[in-house]
Amino acid sequence: MRALLRVLGDGAFHSGEELGALLGVTRSAVWKRLQRLEADLGLCIHAVRGKGYRLAEPLMLLEDAAYFSARLTWPVRVLDSVDSTNLEALRYMTSAAQISPICIVAEQQTAGRGRRGRPWVSPYAENLYLSVVVPVEGGARQLDGLSLTVGLAVYRALRIYDLPGLGLKWPNDLLVAGRKIAGILLELHGDPADKCGVVIGIGINVNMLRAPEVDQAWTSLRLIRGEMLCRSELLYRVCESLRTCLALHAQGGFAALRGEWQAAHLWQGHEVVLTSGQQVIGGRVRGVDEGGALLLESEGATCAYSGGELSLRLADDS
Ligand code: BTN
Repeated sequence: MRALLRVLGDGAFHSGEELGALLGVTRSAVWKRLQRLEADLGLCIHAVRGKGYRLAEPLMLLEDAAYFSARLTWPVRVLDSVDSTNLEALRYMTSAAQISPICIVAEQQTAGRGRRGRPWVSPYAENLYLSVVVPVEGGARQLDGLSLTVGLAVYRALRIYDLPGLGLKWPNDLLVAGRKIAGILLELHGDPADKCGVVIGIGINVNMLRAPEVDQAWTSLRLIRGEMLCRSELLYRVCESLRTCLALHAQGGFAALRGEWQAAHLWQGHEVVLTSGQQVIGGRVRGVDEGGALLLESEGATCAYSGGELSLRLADDS
């Protein structure tokens, strides 16, 4: 399938003969494979008599695992399709005798997971969907503020793409001009008081142009930059940035990155509404503490809030 897609990826017409010769199969076998691409991966292929076949939209596949493993400190697994890279990473941790770092990336997720039980829309070869497995050494304290550290790592990696209005929204969303461009989901495996590992799941909207099923304001690098971007290059940058930030976090905790995080926080000093289940708290954002908890000033007092089920919105966001 990947060999066929590498040829069709240019979006130009290719005849059945050409594709058959390339793959060493008959024209009718080519036709069957094209049908599978449509059915399994949701791709749209145009067939025109006398011209051949072409993808409705050009695409660029990710490089293979050997390419990344030669350049990154972590081994990398590149999957074509998976339910969720986070779930795959959790399965890996369950089966491994000893947890060692690995990065799992997929062209497509059929059941991508977002925060607070929401789905993460993950169409084939459009965006970046990756999960990095990290053993947690040094006890549960290492987890304090970790998801904010990861957000900062993604922020650092995206900064190079010159996206006006790029910033962080507590706890770990990345927005560009108020629209979400990336999200992060950390999932824990094992006992935080003893031995455990964490799955760092990162989704970045790279080349997606349409996604009517997403129920919040979103954008992608391509929508902003007006051109298709190389996901492999971005994956490399994200992994390198993550490695640097995780090393700083391991040495000094989130405290070492707190100032930089706050400087990138879009809602610093803004009036917000924090929702936690049925509880709704209004206040002004005063930053984050050394454990990554949100500092909210309300009725003359500043309190710290943390937890995966919390959600934040601007007070004047009607
Ligand atoms: C959010 O809701 O903001 C978090 C989204 C996290 C999505 C990523 S995509 C790769 C990894 N695998 C998943 O199933 N989810 C995360």
